[in-house]
Amino acid sequence: METKALHKISYGLYIVGTEIDGKYAGCVVDAFIQSTSTPPTVILCSIKANQTNEAIRQRGEFTVSILGEDVDPFVIANFGFQSGRNVDKWANVPHKIVDGLPVLEKAVAFLRCRVTEAKELSTHTAFFCDVTDAWLGEGEPLIYGDYQKSMKTKAMEAFKAFKERKA
Ligand SMILES: Cc1cc2nc3c(=O)[nH]c(=O)nc-3n(C[C@H](O)[C@H](O)[C@H](O)COP(=O)(O)O)c2cc1C
Repeated sequence: METKALHKISYGLYIVGTEIDGKYAGCVVDAFIQSTSTPPTVILCSIKANQTNEAIRQRGEFTVSILGEDVDPFVIANFGFQSGRNVDKWANVPHKIVDGLPVLEKAVAFLRCRVTEAKELSTHTAFFCDVTDAWLGEGEPLIYGDYQKSMKTKAMEAFKAFKERKA
């Protein structure tokens, strides 16, 4: 099998925002799709071992901030290269709280999702969700392949600089 064929499937990049034990949680994801438009439903594939997965189970809902082409690479590093079990990721980025859950200050669009069903896969949980609210921001969405090609290195550098500042 040519596994590289799977790299030709297009994705965006998204920040999931949720809450666990009274603290905000979340991570960056690409495995997020619209499943039906009427009614609006989506599916999120979430790594079982992550705090975000635990938080979504507890809270039963989450927000999605759809990242734009001009996103600061640090945002991706902050939400994707460390766990909320060790750090308050939301404190590191401009954000606001909408109806009790965090979203980025700036994104292309925002969704609020309520879990209706969870299917356990080997390493991930597929959360089936209703979209309960949605609103527009500004800009064009970042494509995951473009992140891999031209932003991943910048995200790694931004994270290294952040860690050095903290040390
Ligand atoms: C570019 C990128 C894409 C990612 N896509 C997903 C994804 O689709 N689903 C997922 O559960 N984790 C994904 N991750 C991994 C989580 O963001 C990462 O494991 C994070 O540190 C989990 O943090 P948490 O323990 O606070 O939930 C991705 C990470 C990166 C850098």
